[in-house]
Amino acid sequence: MDELKGLPEATVIHDSSDLEPFLRDESHMVGLPPLAVVKPHGPAALRELVRLAKTEGFGLVPRGAGTGKAGGCLPTPRSVVVDFSQWPGDIRVSPQDLCLSAPASAPLREVKAAAQAQGLFYPPDPNSWESCALGGTLATNAGGPNACKYGMTRHWVLAVDVLLEDGEIHTFGISSVKANAGPALSQLFIGSEGLFGFIVGATLRLIPQPREHTTLLLPVKRWEDLLDLPGRLCGDGYLPSAFEFFDPAVLAELRAHGPETARRLPGEALAILEFDERGSTSEAYLEGLLDLLGPMAEGLEIASDERQRQNIWAVRRMTSVFLKERHPKKVSEDIVVPRSRLREFFEGLDRLGCPAVTYGHLGDGNLHVNLLAAGDTEPALLERQLMDLFRLAVNLGGTLSGEHGIGLAKREAFLALGDPAQIQALRALKQAMDPCGIFNPGKVI
Ligand code: LAC
Ligand code: ZN
Repeated sequence: MDELKGLPEATVIHDSSDLEPFLRDESHMVGLPPLAVVKPHGPAALRELVRLAKTEGFGLVPRGAGTGKAGGCLPTPRSVVVDFSQWPGDIRVSPQDLCLSAPASAPLREVKAAAQAQGLFYPPDPNSWESCALGGTLATNAGGPNACKYGMTRHWVLAVDVLLEDGEIHTFGISSVKANAGPALSQLFIGSEGLFGFIVGATLRLIPQPREHTTLLLPVKRWEDLLDLPGRLCGDGYLPSAFEFFDPAVLAELRAHGPETARRLPGEALAILEFDERGSTSEAYLEGLLDLLGPMAEGLEIASDERQRQNIWAVRRMTSVFLKERHPKKVSEDIVVPRSRLREFFEGLDRLGCPAVTYGHLGDGNLHVNLLAAGDTEPALLERQLMDLFRLAVNLGGTLSGEHGIGLAKREAFLALGDPAQIQALRALKQAMDPCGIFNPGKVI
């Protein structure tokens, strides 16, 4: 595209073979070849891109590290990918203000490490935390195991710097938890997948690093026994910092074909529980927990050191990639049901006869329901299976996405099942903030 040739402060990629990697993220979707990929290095590039997008009539598709699971960064017809990997800026921690500022390009791993180096904690920990970019986690409101106690990415954002449709970068929010001069518009951009503008940087809230961790492997003979446990724990004052699980099918796959550490995993099904509050390694705390678990505690294993803890987490962290390698055409969903309705959800899934295996964040009801045979399923049938799954979650007071977002992959389902008033409000906001429709067109709504 000739107009992009003289773009200031940017690297521009045109060559079709170099565009290839930008057609995919970590979803099962594939994008269309974009007009170009632009890696901006400064605000002049963004200003000119916005001007050209309006005059030449193309869309701008934001991209972080490409680890999204819903196709939000995939190019749609007549679009230019704006890859933020070269966006400049440093990670700066302010222990006095308990906050950290960073550019969208900052690897989440480095953001978390910068906080930790000061004895501070940035909790969001999506499974891709070692490879994703901060910008993507903000655009998708990423979750992860720790969301069970600490909430999603949006709960940790104080301010965002956003490219708006005037071509300029504007800051929403301040570097403090108390800011009440009007509604918190910064939140509008978190999880909106670039619909209203592109996040180029953020100020994040931090807390002191937890100093104790108790990590438990809880094998069960009847996996249904796990389903009441998240609610019972919370009801009894034990809020886990993570509560993950593998159903019997996923556990069997891991044990049969996974790495060495997975082969010795116990149980018919298995939960990983972690507690990180002060005192959680004390005998009294553990005794209370054992009381609550009752007969379920039989077979319980406690990680006795950091290495054992990391081994347990390594198996959990590799599960998504492992299943994808074993079943390359699988479709992985991330529905949510309230903790109190987990049992009803699985009964419903059984009734649907949906050929699914499940693992994920049981503690907050965010389940990765995987259709392993999706690639060999007739497309209309697959669509029906997915819609039935989403409807089941929605009817139980849940939602069709807990942490991955809507993007391209769930757009149709979102439009079909979403509350019409909410969709209308989203469209009105989109029209007001992006009247020319240049920001991530064809996504979410
Ligand atoms: C996980 C990803 C799929 O939790 O969200 O493994
Ligand atoms: Zn997950």
